[in-house]
Amino acid sequence: MKSYTSVSVTEAVLKQMDGTEDERLKTIVQSAIRHLHAFARDVNLTPAEWLKAIEFFTRVGKTCTATRQEFILLSDVVGLSTLVNTLHDATATEDATATSLLGPFFREDAPPLPLGAQISNNDKSEEILLWGAVLSASGDAIPNAKLMVWQTSSSGVYDLQEGNGNAIDYRGTFHTDAAGEYHLRTVRPLGYFIPMDGPVGDLVRAQRREGCRPAHIHFLISAPGFRELVTALYFPDRYLETDVVFGASPELVVKEEARDPEAPVKNLPSVHFDFTLARAGSVDIAGGRVGADPTKLS
Ligand code: BEZ
Ligand code: FE
Repeated sequence: MKSYTSVSVTEAVLKQMDGTEDERLKTIVQSAIRHLHAFARDVNLTPAEWLKAIEFFTRVGKTCTATRQEFILLSDVVGLSTLVNTLHDATATEDATATSLLGPFFREDAPPLPLGAQISNNDKSEEILLWGAVLSASGDAIPNAKLMVWQTSSSGVYDLQEGNGNAIDYRGTFHTDAAGEYHLRTVRPLGYFIPMDGPVGDLVRAQRREGCRPAHIHFLISAPGFRELVTALYFPDRYLETDVVFGASPELVVKEEARDPEAPVKNLPSVHFDFTLARAGSVDIAGGRVGADPTKLS
């Protein structure tokens, strides 16, 4: 038996884990150990600092409830969710619309609605029209593609944040028509603060970041034979550059038209966006969502 140095302890830990049967688990955990140990050496981590970190992670765990996942929020604000999405996008065999974060306000039970329906019930502010098509990478229409849409009200709150969170609003499930086209009515969403009343909010404040997301509308789009697309459309907003969860990207920023003669409804301000899905390929893995309906998380 030998005493450990700040380098030999890393080798000893890796060696003890060499017998891990699951090869992927072995790769992931051993790499995490290498990087974690290197990080501790890099900053010369003190016992008091590590204890503080442990207390922070404990608070993150204790903040999780049936409807709140603080670990996913942590992954979002440190850019890990976007990094994992980017790695997933790179495994596609065809170019598709860029992904964006699922976020904590997705729910599976968005009501099925006919094309053209308004997704906002309570918020009666000015209507806008969203319209376009769902296409394959070669530009062919994808009929009957499923679009789940969700967003905030025009005052920047999701239905899950209103009252007891049980009412369903500002969300719906649509299917493209035979020409692969969709259109729906909604209200303009507003940028908002991520949940700032927990340990992740404390971290963001300590970093002097604003904790805001630019106004956006989420989409989860699927069709048999294609990779599921988790994305969002962003409205011009002062928080685009500083999105606290790194979800916004230039190709997802839309332009509103006051009166578009091409739009399927003529008398409304409208946003046109065509989504592209990549065909599901042999490298496809379980799916591209970092997150889930909070009520379905174990
Ligand atoms: C959202 O887009 O709803 C969101 C995403 C990540 C963290 C918080 C909110
Ligand atoms: Fe959102």
